[in-house]
Amino acid sequence: MKEFLIAGNWKMYKTSAEAKAFAKELKEQKLPNEDMVAIMAPYTQLTTLVDEFADTKLGVGAQNVHYEKEGAFTGEISADMLEEIGIKYCVVGHSERRQYYGETDNAVNLKIKALLAKEITPILCVGETLEQRENGMPQLVVSTQLMNGLAGLSEEDVRKIVIAYEPVWAIGTGKTATPEQAEEMCGFIKGMIEGLFGEVCSYVVKVLYGGSMKPANAKELLSQPSINGGLIGGASLKVESFAEIARIAYEISNTGNFC
Ligand code: PGA
Repeated sequence: MKEFLIAGNWKMYKTSAEAKAFAKELKEQKLPNEDMVAIMAPYTQLTTLVDEFADTKLGVGAQNVHYEKEGAFTGEISADMLEEIGIKYCVVGHSERRQYYGETDNAVNLKIKALLAKEITPILCVGETLEQRENGMPQLVVSTQLMNGLAGLSEEDVRKIVIAYEPVWAIGTGKTATPEQAEEMCGFIKGMIEGLFGEVCSYVVKVLYGGSMKPANAKELLSQPSINGGLIGGASLKVESFAEIARIAYEISNTGNFC
C-alpha cells in the first residue's frame, strides 16, 4: 500500500472563525484516510484546529518555526511552543519564506534539527525557479537545497522527514508541473536520499509534490511512483476541493493503482 500525506498549506489565509467552520465541515466529510491528512495553518489558528480535530486523526502543522529553544527573538515561535500545543508537522524552507524573508539553507537545517528534537515532522520544501529551470539547472538547485537542509542528520533522522518538491514557477500560478516533470524530480530526490542514506530510507521518506495541485490534476500526479502526496495551497482553502484530493489519494493507496 502506498502511503500518502495530503497537507493543506493555508499560508496567510483564514481567521479563527473561518478555521473553525472549515474544521467542522472537514470532519463531516468523514474521510477514510484522516491519518494521511493535515492542515498547515497560521499560528493563531493552530489551537483552534488542534481542539477541533481532537476526536479525529486529522493532523495540524505550523508553517514556520525558530530554531532556538527560547530567547530575545521578537515575533518568533519555538519548536517547544509548537510541541506544547500538540503540533505534528511544520513546513520549513517554503519558497515564499526563502524569497520574502531570506530563509537560508543553514536556517532550514537548524529548524529541522529543532523540530526533530521535539518529534515534530519537518516538511522540507525544495524547488527551482523558472529561470533556474530554463538555465537547465533544476537538479543542481534541488540537490543543493536538499544536501544543505539535511546536513549533519542521521539516517534515523531523515526517515522522519517529509520532503516537498515545489517548483517555484508552479506555486499559486495555476501552472502545474506535468506528471512527468513532477515524477522526474521526485524520483531524483528519492535517488539522492538512497545515495546518501540508503534504500530503506529512500523508501520510507515521503516526497510530496506542491504547486497548483487540484482535484483535476491530483490523480495523475499522485499516481506517479515517486510521489507520496501533496502540499496544497489554493485548493486547501475550500473543504470540497481539499477533501476531493484526499479521497483521490485514498483510492490510489487502496487500489495500488500506480501509473
Ligand atoms: P498552490 O501552493 O497549491 O496554491 O500552488 C502550494 C504551496 O505553496 O505550498
